[in-house]
Order: sequence, then structure tokens, then C-alpha cells
Amino acid sequence: MSFDLVFFGGTGDLTWRKLMPALFQAFRHGKLPEGGRILAVARDERSDDEYRAFIKDRFVEVDSAKRPSDEEFAKFAELLHYRRMDLSKPEHYAGLKDWIDARGADTAVLYLATSPYLFPVICEQLGAAGLNGPKVRVVLEKPLGHDLASALEINRVVRAVFDERQAFRIDHYLGKPAVQNLMALRFGNALFEPLWNRQSIANIQITLAESLGVGTRGDYYDKTGALRDMIQNHALQLLTMIAMEPPSSNDADAIRDEKLKVLRSLKPFTPECVARDVVRGQYKAGGIGGQSVNGYLDEVKVPAGSHCETFVAIRTEVQNWRWAGVPFYLRTGKRMAGRAAQIIVNFREVPHPIFPGSARANKLVIKLQPEDGLELHLLAAKGGAQGEQLAPVSLDLDFDKAFPTDRVGAYERLLLDAIAGRLNLFVRSDEQEQAWRWVMPILEAWANDPNGPRGYTAGSWGPPASSAMVARDGYAWDEEQ
Ligand code: BG6
Repeated sequence: MSFDLVFFGGTGDLTWRKLMPALFQAFRHGKLPEGGRILAVARDERSDDEYRAFIKDRFVEVDSAKRPSDEEFAKFAELLHYRRMDLSKPEHYAGLKDWIDARGADTAVLYLATSPYLFPVICEQLGAAGLNGPKVRVVLEKPLGHDLASALEINRVVRAVFDERQAFRIDHYLGKPAVQNLMALRFGNALFEPLWNRQSIANIQITLAESLGVGTRGDYYDKTGALRDMIQNHALQLLTMIAMEPPSSNDADAIRDEKLKVLRSLKPFTPECVARDVVRGQYKAGGIGGQSVNGYLDEVKVPAGSHCETFVAIRTEVQNWRWAGVPFYLRTGKRMAGRAAQIIVNFREVPHPIFPGSARANKLVIKLQPEDGLELHLLAAKGGAQGEQLAPVSLDLDFDKAFPTDRVGAYERLLLDAIAGRLNLFVRSDEQEQAWRWVMPILEAWANDPNGPRGYTAGSWGPPASSAMVARDGYAWDEEQ
């Protein structure tokens, strides 16, 4: 299948840091369909060769196992092209259309890797130039809006030009292998589904923790904050995959209908509920891996006295028969004690313990990062001289070992899906809008709260109030158990 893949924002960070390395991996492993052209568009004048050299130089920043040799890059570079475009000029879109039409590939994937404030203008111009025919797909990179109103506006413009099935909204967490495995675990196996409900599950914890700080992105981050950056999209998408009902098929809309139902069932926030069930934090100076690090307010490009949150913990519930009363705890933060993205399903304790020693409930750990895998924690008899003493053991599944040759990274997977037109791992507009609807009362409550976020020491698991919130239910975050 021939394709043209066009990156608007072709010289931007996302393109060279994530998208080009992902495409190169797909190319190296023979997964990129034959007959492809990759076109970067940006404001400045350069030739194809200058652009290829620009990308080649930046590969130095990519992890060495994923870096191309000169020979490999030379082959990959044959796919790369560059075109100068002023995004406000209709004639530049007409020129792009001619370039695409002259070859008439099977599909044209237009990837908007630009700042989202440009999405409306780009979409309108694409529509006016006729670059929205049935062969065209548009990929929209987050952040998709800043709040509900701006998200609705972006979607209004996108819908005016493209059919919903042409719109590929990226949430790169959905491309992570562990997330696809969550679908396989739940709906490809009969084992867990009978237990996947309030009768057997005590609580669910979703943690997206990073040890990195905001780095040089202080100006962007300060306008965003952890709630918009990680919860509204990544954490809520994970929650929907955990909590959704079995879809009737593997069709994108069958899946997305079920995810939307979960988002609509989330307990809505009132201001009192925000005060009780949401903890916002901001890191103070501390230590990571034995090194002292700055507090958020001392990071570059962060305005003095900022109330921007670098940590959020939320307690919520999915208000339906399956999940009534089961707390779902979400948390994310920068400069935390470790880099860990994981979902923990804590099962209930046995109803009547007969063995001596502490009863310990089973748990299933779905690990997204740093490695992806599954762990099922059980109690087993140690078989020692002391009699029937039980000890915790875990059954571990390391996906890299189980499937050593077939694994693809998140962006690689999503780019290949966009080229192939598979929408399963992309977010539909109504899901995205509903996720915004749910977080808005939190943003509004914070805007009216003069206290600002609670401090937490860099290198910790967040403010103590986050542990206290979970302790109120008689539970604890995983690392405190
Ligand atoms: C991005 C956020 O969406 O996800 C970043 O904007 C964050 O702030 C990143 O660091 C985390 O992604 P990953 O795949 O490294 O966990």
C-alpha cells in the first residue's frame, strides 16, 4: 500500500525526537509499507538534502540501539522530503495537494505535529484546498485543547472538514504494548472477567510517575500542569480500558463506545468533592538518585510564585453496577521517587483466613514502564520447617522475553495504524470532550483556591495528603503496602 505521510511541524521537537525515530524503527524492521514518502513541512527554506542532514544530526540524541548506521540512514533518507510552507497561505496548500495528487498514493496521512493553536487554521486551509478527500487521514497530536471550550472548538473545525473516521487523535499511551495487552488480558482470556468487578476487586491504582522534572519545557508546562498533561488524557484512557464493558467486537467504534460509557459514568466533581478527593502538589528541591535537584519554582522559564501543579492524585468511582463503591485512584507527578507507569488491581482479601500470619490480598500489576509486563501476586506455602507459613510470590510475564521479535514502540505502532487506517487505538472526539467535561470542575475549583498546590520533596511519592486520601478508605498506595 503506497502512502504519503506529511508532518506539519516537520522541524519541531516531536517530529525529530519521537516520530522520525519511530518511523526509522518501522523501516528497519520492514514494517513500513513499501511505496511510502515522508514529507516534512515547516516555515524555513531548505532542500530535501538539508532536511535529511538535519534529521540525521538529531538521531545522535536517540538511544544508541535505535540509532541508524550511515548506510541505514542513507536508505531511510530516500523516503524523506521537505517542503517550505507558510501555513496561512492557500497557495501553499494547493502546492501540497499537487505534490500529493501527482503520485496518487493509496492514502495521505497528514500529521499535525504543531502547536494546537494552529489546528483550526491548518484544517480550514486543508478543507479549502480539497485536501480532505476519502483517502486523506488527519492525525492530531495532544494537547487537544486547554479546556472543554477550546477542545470543542478544535473538534468543531476538524468535523467541519473531516469525517470522524478520518480523524486520528493520538494518545501515545494507547500505543504502548502493555495497554494493548490489557485488552488481550481482559477479552482474549476467560480467566479474569468473572473476577473483574466489585465483588472481587477492592481498589484500582493507576500511577504515572516520572523522576524527571520539567526540564527546559517550563514555559509550556506552566500553562498546562499535570492534570491537563497526564490525567485528562493518558490516565483517563487507561482507566477506560480497565473499567470498560466487553465490546461486542474489535471494531474501533465498538471499543470507543464502551470507553465513552465509562467516562460518562465517572463520579462528577463538586467543589467539596475536589477538596476531599483531589490532591495537587508541586515539587520542592530534593534529591533524585543521589543528586540534588531544583524545586519547580527554580526551574528555567517558570514564573515566580506559580501555582502550577506537578503532581495530582485523584480518588474517583465508576458509577455503574460493575464498579459501584470501588475506588479508582489516579496519580501522576514529575520528580517522583521513580519512573513507573503501572496499573494495580488490588483484589479483596480472603473472606475467612485459615492460615497464620498476615493475610495478603492478591494483586495484578500491569506494568507499562520502564519495562512492560504483568505480575500476578499470590500467597504460597513456603514449605519450610515452620509449618504452614505463607509468603507472597509473583508470577511474572516479561513481554520482551515472551515475544522477542515482534514488539513495536508506541509511536511506531500508532504511525503504522494511522497509515493502515486502523482507528482502534485513537481517541474519538466524544471521548476526548467527555474527559474534559470531567476535569473542568477540578480546574475551576483550583482557579478559585488561593492556597495553591501542596509542596512535596523531589524524589518522594508526592505530598503526604495523597497517602492520607487513600488511607481514608482503609487502603494504601502500592509502595506503602
Ligand atoms: C507526554 C507529556 O504526553 O507524556 C510529558 O506531555 C510526559 O510531560 C510524557 O513526560 C510521558 O510519556 P512517557 O511515554 O515517557 O511515559
